[in-house]
Amino acid sequence: MKRIIAIIAAVLFCTGLALAEEPQKTIELPAKSGNVIFEHQKHIDMKHTCTPCHTTEAGGKIEGFGKEMAHDVCKGCHAQGTGPTKCTECHHK
Ligand code: HEC
Ligand code: HEC
Ligand code: HEC
Repeated sequence: MKRIIAIIAAVLFCTGLALAEEPQKTIELPAKSGNVIFEHQKHIDMKHTCTPCHTTEAGGKIEGFGKEMAHDVCKGCHAQGTGPTKCTECHHK
Protein backbone atom coordinates (compact mmCIF):
# COMPACT_ATOMS: atom_id res chain seq x y z
CA MET A 1 0.00 0.00 0.00
CA LYS A 2 2.74 2.39 1.04
CA ARG A 3 4.56 1.64 -2.18
CA ILE A 4 1.47 2.38 -4.28
CA ILE A 5 1.06 5.71 -2.53
CA ALA A 6 4.71 6.49 -3.19
CA ILE A 7 4.25 5.71 -6.88
CA ILE A 8 1.13 7.89 -7.09
CA ALA A 9 2.98 10.70 -5.32
CA ALA A 10 5.87 10.39 -7.77
CA VAL A 11 3.51 10.49 -10.75
CA LEU A 12 1.69 13.55 -9.39
CA PHE A 13 5.03 15.23 -8.75
CA CYS A 14 6.16 14.65 -12.35
CA THR A 15 2.85 15.87 -13.76
CA GLY A 16 3.24 18.96 -11.60
CA LEU A 17 6.67 19.59 -13.07
CA ALA A 18 5.35 19.15 -16.60
CA LEU A 19 2.53 21.61 -15.93
CA ALA A 20 4.85 24.10 -14.25
CA GLU A 21 5.90 25.38 -17.66
CA GLU A 22 2.60 26.90 -18.71
CA PRO A 23 2.29 27.73 -22.40
CA GLN A 24 1.79 31.38 -23.31
CA LYS A 25 -1.83 32.56 -23.20
CA THR A 26 -1.54 34.71 -26.29
CA ILE A 27 1.01 34.28 -29.07
CA GLU A 28 1.64 36.94 -31.69
CA LEU A 29 2.51 35.26 -34.99
CA PRO A 30 4.35 37.70 -37.24
CA ALA A 31 3.27 37.93 -40.90
CA LYS A 32 3.89 40.51 -43.63
CA SER A 33 0.18 40.58 -44.34
CA GLY A 34 -0.46 41.62 -40.74
CA ASN A 35 0.40 39.86 -37.48
CA VAL A 36 -1.96 37.21 -36.20
CA ILE A 37 -2.95 37.44 -32.55
CA PHE A 38 -3.46 33.81 -31.61
CA GLU A 39 -5.41 33.11 -28.43
CA HIS A 40 -3.45 30.00 -27.43
CA GLN A 41 -5.15 29.47 -24.06
CA LYS A 42 -8.61 29.95 -25.53
CA HIS A 43 -7.87 27.30 -28.18
CA ILE A 44 -6.49 24.94 -25.51
CA ASP A 45 -9.62 25.42 -23.43
CA MET A 46 -11.81 24.71 -26.45
CA LYS A 47 -10.01 21.53 -27.51
CA HIS A 48 -8.51 20.25 -24.24
CA THR A 49 -5.78 18.60 -26.31
CA CYS A 50 -2.65 19.87 -27.98
CA THR A 51 -2.37 17.58 -30.97
CA PRO A 52 -4.52 19.38 -33.51
CA CYS A 53 -1.55 21.75 -33.75
CA HIS A 54 1.39 20.05 -31.96
CA THR A 55 2.79 16.60 -32.67
CA THR A 56 2.82 15.72 -28.95
CA GLU A 57 0.84 16.69 -25.84
CA ALA A 58 3.92 18.55 -24.57
CA GLY A 59 3.55 21.31 -27.17
CA GLY A 60 6.46 23.64 -27.86
CA LYS A 61 7.88 25.20 -30.99
CA ILE A 62 6.16 23.84 -34.10
CA GLU A 63 8.70 22.59 -36.62
CA GLY A 64 8.24 24.33 -39.96
CA PHE A 65 5.36 26.52 -38.78
CA GLY A 66 4.51 29.14 -41.38
CA LYS A 67 1.97 30.13 -43.99
CA GLU A 68 1.37 26.65 -45.46
CA MET A 69 0.86 24.93 -42.16
CA ALA A 70 -1.08 27.79 -40.59
CA HIS A 71 -3.54 28.04 -43.45
CA ASP A 72 -3.85 24.27 -43.52
CA VAL A 73 -4.31 23.58 -39.82
CA CYS A 74 -5.86 26.84 -38.60
CA LYS A 75 -8.14 27.67 -41.51
CA GLY A 76 -8.84 23.97 -42.00
CA CYS A 77 -10.47 23.67 -38.61
CA HIS A 78 -12.19 27.06 -38.83
CA ALA A 79 -13.66 26.10 -42.20
CA GLN A 80 -15.72 23.45 -40.46
CA GLY A 81 -17.94 26.37 -39.55
CA THR A 82 -16.52 27.36 -36.18
CA GLY A 83 -13.86 30.02 -36.60
CA PRO A 84 -12.65 32.90 -38.77
CA THR A 85 -11.63 32.14 -42.39
CA LYS A 86 -11.41 35.68 -43.85
CA CYS A 87 -7.89 37.11 -44.22
CA THR A 88 -8.56 40.18 -42.11
CA GLU A 89 -10.15 38.19 -39.29
CA CYS A 90 -6.70 36.73 -38.59
CA HIS A 91 -4.28 39.24 -40.09
CA HIS A 92 -4.30 42.63 -38.42
CA LYS A 93 -2.27 45.46 -39.89
C1 HEC B 1 -5.02 25.48 -32.14
C2 HEC B 1 -3.59 25.24 -32.18
C3 HEC B 1 -2.86 24.95 -30.88
C4 HEC B 1 -3.26 24.16 -29.84
C5 HEC B 1 -4.54 23.35 -29.68
C6 HEC B 1 -2.18 24.19 -28.88
N1 HEC B 1 -1.17 24.98 -29.33
FE1 HEC B 1 0.62 25.36 -28.40
N2 HEC B 1 1.18 26.59 -29.91
C7 HEC B 1 0.44 26.83 -31.07
C8 HEC B 1 1.19 27.73 -31.93
C9 HEC B 1 0.73 28.25 -33.29
C10 HEC B 1 2.41 28.01 -31.27
C11 HEC B 1 3.56 28.87 -31.78
C12 HEC B 1 4.45 27.92 -32.56
C13 HEC B 1 5.78 28.43 -32.97
O1 HEC B 1 6.08 29.62 -32.79
O2 HEC B 1 6.56 27.59 -33.48
C14 HEC B 1 2.38 27.27 -30.02
C15 HEC B 1 3.40 27.29 -29.07
C16 HEC B 1 3.42 26.53 -27.91
C17 HEC B 1 4.51 26.50 -26.97
C18 HEC B 1 5.83 27.28 -27.09
C19 HEC B 1 5.63 28.71 -26.81
C20 HEC B 1 5.13 28.93 -25.41
O3 HEC B 1 3.93 29.14 -25.25
O4 HEC B 1 5.93 28.88 -24.48
C21 HEC B 1 4.17 25.64 -25.97
C22 HEC B 1 4.99 25.25 -24.74
C23 HEC B 1 2.84 25.12 -26.30
N3 HEC B 1 2.43 25.70 -27.49
C24 HEC B 1 2.14 24.21 -25.54
C25 HEC B 1 0.88 23.73 -25.83
C26 HEC B 1 0.18 22.75 -25.02
C27 HEC B 1 0.75 22.09 -23.77
C28 HEC B 1 -1.05 22.55 -25.63
C29 HEC B 1 -2.18 21.65 -25.16
C30 HEC B 1 -2.58 21.77 -23.77
C31 HEC B 1 -1.10 23.40 -26.81
N4 HEC B 1 0.07 24.10 -26.89
C32 HEC B 1 -2.18 23.47 -27.68
C33 HEC B 1 -0.79 26.31 -31.37
C34 HEC B 1 -1.55 25.47 -30.56
C1 HEC C 1 -7.12 31.30 -39.41
C2 HEC C 1 -6.29 32.45 -39.47
C3 HEC C 1 -5.79 32.90 -40.86
C4 HEC C 1 -6.55 33.21 -41.96
C5 HEC C 1 -8.06 33.18 -42.11
C6 HEC C 1 -5.62 33.62 -42.98
N1 HEC C 1 -4.33 33.54 -42.50
FE1 HEC C 1 -2.63 34.01 -43.52
N2 HEC C 1 -1.50 33.29 -41.98
C7 HEC C 1 -2.00 32.90 -40.76
C8 HEC C 1 -0.89 32.48 -39.92
C9 HEC C 1 -1.02 31.98 -38.48
C10 HEC C 1 0.28 32.64 -40.68
C11 HEC C 1 1.71 32.28 -40.27
C12 HEC C 1 2.35 33.37 -39.49
C13 HEC C 1 3.73 32.98 -39.05
O1 HEC C 1 4.34 32.08 -39.64
O2 HEC C 1 4.22 33.60 -38.09
C14 HEC C 1 -0.15 33.18 -41.98
C15 HEC C 1 0.73 33.53 -43.01
C16 HEC C 1 0.36 34.22 -44.14
C17 HEC C 1 1.29 34.78 -45.12
C18 HEC C 1 2.81 34.72 -45.08
C19 HEC C 1 3.30 35.98 -44.41
C20 HEC C 1 4.78 36.04 -44.21
O3 HEC C 1 5.23 37.04 -43.60
O4 HEC C 1 5.49 35.13 -44.65
C21 HEC C 1 0.53 35.41 -46.09
C22 HEC C 1 1.03 36.15 -47.32
C23 HEC C 1 -0.87 35.23 -45.71
N3 HEC C 1 -0.93 34.50 -44.51
C24 HEC C 1 -1.95 35.71 -46.43
C25 HEC C 1 -3.29 35.40 -46.16
C26 HEC C 1 -4.40 35.73 -47.04
C27 HEC C 1 -4.28 36.50 -48.37
C28 HEC C 1 -5.53 35.25 -46.44
C29 HEC C 1 -6.96 35.26 -46.96
C30 HEC C 1 -7.16 34.61 -48.25
C31 HEC C 1 -5.12 34.63 -45.17
N4 HEC C 1 -3.75 34.75 -45.04
C32 HEC C 1 -5.97 34.06 -44.25
C33 HEC C 1 -3.32 32.87 -40.38
C34 HEC C 1 -4.40 33.09 -41.21
C1 HEC D 1 -9.37 22.36 -33.85
C2 HEC D 1 -9.98 23.58 -34.34
C3 HEC D 1 -9.16 24.85 -34.44
C4 HEC D 1 -7.85 24.99 -34.81
C5 HEC D 1 -6.86 23.89 -35.22
C6 HEC D 1 -7.57 26.41 -34.77
N1 HEC D 1 -8.68 27.11 -34.38
FE1 HEC D 1 -8.80 29.17 -34.21
N2 HEC D 1 -10.72 28.99 -33.58
C7 HEC D 1 -11.43 27.81 -33.46
C8 HEC D 1 -12.79 28.10 -33.01
C9 HEC D 1 -13.89 27.08 -32.72
C10 HEC D 1 -12.86 29.52 -32.89
C11 HEC D 1 -14.07 30.35 -32.45
C12 HEC D 1 -13.95 30.68 -31.01
C13 HEC D 1 -15.03 31.63 -30.54
O1 HEC D 1 -15.70 32.25 -31.35
O2 HEC D 1 -15.17 31.72 -29.32
C14 HEC D 1 -11.55 30.04 -33.26
C15 HEC D 1 -11.23 31.39 -33.24
C16 HEC D 1 -10.05 31.94 -33.70
C17 HEC D 1 -9.77 33.36 -33.82
C18 HEC D 1 -10.71 34.52 -33.50
C19 HEC D 1 -11.12 34.59 -32.10
C20 HEC D 1 -10.03 34.57 -31.12
O3 HEC D 1 -10.16 33.90 -30.08
O4 HEC D 1 -8.97 35.19 -31.33
C21 HEC D 1 -8.49 33.48 -34.31
C22 HEC D 1 -7.73 34.75 -34.64
C23 HEC D 1 -7.98 32.13 -34.49
N3 HEC D 1 -8.95 31.22 -34.11
C24 HEC D 1 -6.73 31.82 -34.95
C25 HEC D 1 -6.23 30.53 -35.11
C26 HEC D 1 -4.88 30.22 -35.54
C27 HEC D 1 -3.83 31.26 -35.91
C28 HEC D 1 -4.78 28.86 -35.55
C29 HEC D 1 -3.59 27.99 -35.94
C30 HEC D 1 -2.32 28.24 -35.25
C31 HEC D 1 -6.06 28.32 -35.15
N4 HEC D 1 -6.91 29.35 -34.88
C32 HEC D 1 -6.34 26.96 -35.08
C33 HEC D 1 -10.97 26.54 -33.73
C34 HEC D 1 -9.68 26.20 -34.16
